[in-house]
Amino acid sequence: MSKVFELNHPLIQHKLTLIRDKETGAKDFRDLVKEVSMLMAYEVTRDLPLEDVEVETPVCNATLKRISGRKLGIVPILRAGLGMVDGFLSLLPAAKVGHIGLYRDPKTLKPVEYYCKLPSDVEERDLLLVDPMLATGGSAIAAIGFLKDRGAVNIKLVSLISCPEGLKAVQDAHPDVDIYVGSIDEKLNEHAYIVPGLGDAGDRLFGTK
Ligand code: URA
Repeated sequence: MSKVFELNHPLIQHKLTLIRDKETGAKDFRDLVKEVSMLMAYEVTRDLPLEDVEVETPVCNATLKRISGRKLGIVPILRAGLGMVDGFLSLLPAAKVGHIGLYRDPKTLKPVEYYCKLPSDVEERDLLLVDPMLATGGSAIAAIGFLKDRGAVNIKLVSLISCPEGLKAVQDAHPDVDIYVGSIDEKLNEHAYIVPGLGDAGDRLFGTK
């Protein structure tokens, strides 16, 4: 079974409270999503392997650490996932960015893929799949499936806000994918919105409400 990490650093909790406030406008919402994403990127990369490297400082030669191992990829689920990319890239500038476009069929509520463009060496990269809201889990489950179909083997899912229903659904479908969230909220409502949540993340990011 995969692990769920609730990243409840005080800065993440504080900024999520501001993000949730319905009076927070699109610009502040975007800035805050970027800041929380950056803080989450810091936590999500805690287990990156390190290797020794020899460096000549102005004072002496030293054996120091640098990140080793597989390269990284960031994959936002369109469109709300786009809001998290800049925060991740600001800490991981060498990562490549793929995109997966899914929409939820309004009748079946099931995800349908309409776009997928990934780094050509996707099977050699550790992937961070980002989507601000882990609600039913349907989009994340489908996106992880598409990534695996294209050869991805090491995937982490990162969401700002989640709920027990979505977490369980993803864990059941993809027990190899660890999940990192800023909050585990109470529940889903009858419209598949997270409660208390923050409303529609895509609309709030892009002002399309
Ligand atoms: N997607 C959102 O943007 N918000 C929710 O609460 C659930 C899904």
